[in-house]
Amino acid sequence: RKRVVSGVQPTGSIHLGNYLGAIKNWIALQNTYETLFFIVDLHAITLPYDTQQLAKSTRDTAAIYLACGVDTSKAAVFVQSHVRAHVELMWLLSSDTPIGWLNRMIQFKEKSRKAGDENVGAALLTYPVLMAADILLYQSDFVPVGEDQKQHLELTREIAERINYLYGGRKWKKLGGRGGTIFKVPEPLIPPAGARIMSLTDGLSKMSKSAPSDQSRINLLDSKDVIASKIKRCKTDSFSGLEFDNPERPECSNLLSIYQLVSGKTKEEVTQECQDMNWGTFKPLITDALIDHLHPIQVRYEEIMSDSTCLDGILAEGALKASEIADATLNNVYQAKGFLRR
Ligand code: TYM
Repeated sequence: RKRVVSGVQPTGSIHLGNYLGAIKNWIALQNTYETLFFIVDLHAITLPYDTQQLAKSTRDTAAIYLACGVDTSKAAVFVQSHVRAHVELMWLLSSDTPIGWLNRMIQFKEKSRKAGDENVGAALLTYPVLMAADILLYQSDFVPVGEDQKQHLELTREIAERINYLYGGRKWKKLGGRGGTIFKVPEPLIPPAGARIMSLTDGLSKMSKSAPSDQSRINLLDSKDVIASKIKRCKTDSFSGLEFDNPERPECSNLLSIYQLVSGKTKEEVTQECQDMNWGTFKPLITDALIDHLHPIQVRYEEIMSDSTCLDGILAEGALKASEIADATLNNVYQAKGFLRR
């Protein structure tokens, strides 16, 4: 069976962008593919963070995966740092990853520009190598992510191809390996709608956990009142009617996309339904659709959080299952790179 992996950082609260761009799309894949979903706690330490919160956010994020419909009878759910092979493979990959490739990463450039060089840890630069390790360890076929991870996926593919070229094939066979490729080269799965959910307060910047104003995002666990007030106050425009894809109306297109995805309607249906509406009629509509969609998730989340031993069991089992696959890949890489075997 083809394999799918993906993960979310346990920083701040999970928002509609994470959900519509990634988590929601994982659910449909569980039935067809072998799936592994992790909480990338090691990625969460690449910017200043609160040590008092990390463990809690990690469990919260796991509970959100399950509440959104990740089914642990089908998917492995685990914490990245619980499977040691991630960090180990990252080191092995980093010796073959040119710094130039890392310096070109948009997210690195943006995040380091904001913080300033002296405040940026080396891990912010090598972050995509850890992400490549997360994916390549499992010989993954597909990686469902939002648009902003596309460049990291391209880098992952380049690292895989480079290592296959440098150490794979007959060279590897001579060292006692199977020969052929060391890593499968994965493909991103970026959804046609929802891959880039924008901020509620500025239709030109993406919805993000790190934006200072909570008004700019809808968190999956926001209460009905908070959702209603965020929609009431979100940025709109003074055109008449509502439409998708007008570059002069980024907020409008974004809100219609959100409405489309949470209501389960098609783009055509939403276009029909909303083209003659004004904001005054649309806002209550999208508010209700959001609440209806998120409420069951919030109820399940509370249930899961009320039984924390169960959650811990799930994470332990997931880590065990993941380790088996990960260790096999890791051993191959050591072998292919010529290490003395243990
Ligand atoms: P992170 O935690 O920033 O985001 C998690 C997922 O949510 C998507 N996303 C969005 N999608 C649509 N609109 C938005 N505004 C939006 N904001 C975030 C992201 O594209 C992502 O899919 N480096 C990754 C985590 C990671 C990972 C991996 C993912 C680490 N290792 C291996 C896949 C495979 C990250 O920081 O995502």
